[in-house]
Amino acid sequence: MNTVEKVEAKFRELFNESPLLFRSPGRVNLIGEHTDYNMGFVLPAAIDKAIYFAITPRSDDICNLHSIDFNESNQHPVAKIQHQEKHWANYLLGVVDQIQKLGYTIKGFNCVFGGDIPIGAGLSSSAAIEAGLAFALNHIFNLGIAKLEIVKLAQRAENEFVGVKCGIMDQYVNIFGSEKKVLRIDCRSLDYEYHPFEREDLRIVLCNTMVSHSLASSEYNARRAQCEEGVKILQQYYPHVNSLRDVEWDIIKLHELEFPPKVWNRCKYVIEENERLLKACEDLDRNDFVSFGYRMYQSHEGLRDLYEVSCKELDFLVDLASKQKGVLGSRMMGGGFGGCTINIIEHNKVNEFISEVSGKYQMEFDKKPDTYICTIENGTGLLH
Ligand code: GLA
Repeated sequence: MNTVEKVEAKFRELFNESPLLFRSPGRVNLIGEHTDYNMGFVLPAAIDKAIYFAITPRSDDICNLHSIDFNESNQHPVAKIQHQEKHWANYLLGVVDQIQKLGYTIKGFNCVFGGDIPIGAGLSSSAAIEAGLAFALNHIFNLGIAKLEIVKLAQRAENEFVGVKCGIMDQYVNIFGSEKKVLRIDCRSLDYEYHPFEREDLRIVLCNTMVSHSLASSEYNARRAQCEEGVKILQQYYPHVNSLRDVEWDIIKLHELEFPPKVWNRCKYVIEENERLLKACEDLDRNDFVSFGYRMYQSHEGLRDLYEVSCKELDFLVDLASKQKGVLGSRMMGGGFGGCTINIIEHNKVNEFISEVSGKYQMEFDKKPDTYICTIENGTGLLH
């Protein structure tokens, strides 16, 4: 049985009825890291790894949740949603909470979910749960919530209910992702455009450091605070500046000496990364993956040296990748301090790459990195 069949079978076993099935993908981000909460640009894509939901509405007030991966059930009255300390159900309950906060009335529902997005690898399994459930509830209760509102409510569920201050990228690409395209999101205007990412001869390969990003949330919030500190310094002179997106390089340079050195580095990285991303989109439009790959390496250097969110395992993998045949670009992906690197590789060099990198990584760190070859797929949708 594949994952979706397992989810459906469990649902029938528990509730003895036929469900609607939804697929909600994980994501990669090609370039543009730590730019979303600075109102900049990001360039993610939805992938073939996903969470699947089997779901039906109920006529009473009970939401019945079952996680295949935890092999655990959980029951709640919709009208009395309560946060549970460190519990998987929070990712779903936060969504039910936010939908009601928007003024929609929903009844209870039965829901079984599970998937093949590796947890803790930085592929946004949590956003897939939140945005996927919001999409499914919108569908089964016919709420008429627009796609962008689904994105925002799913992000608020993570920010307010789960308690992680993430940006909007993961939930956005989960809903708006499209097969064979990357999504350039402008996190200030919340507009998007697609750029082609279709080359039969290239593959996206992820290498998982297997380092769980335990530092990630405290350091993530610290980076956010440092960027805000930079904005405050600039606001004294330029009141219109609300985020690092509103600052030109020529202007910020005039004030370098007023910045604490670390704050300066963080801001410099963010401004450079936004510029890099815009050029990277031009590369894609010209089908120039050599130049695109070069910018990925530059992005990694910025994340390592200026933003300081990499770690020795990620640096090792990127350095190793840069020496392999057929690798066009490589960098750490996501929040940092662990998780995966993303690599663009010629398809006929992929096997060699995986065996070289796995062997050398294992020798250095005494653990085997998982590797995933990803394809770019559509965002969340109903399965027929
Ligand atoms: C995490 C967050 C995103 C984004 C990235 C860094 O994945 O959930 O919103 O900030 O880190 O680019």
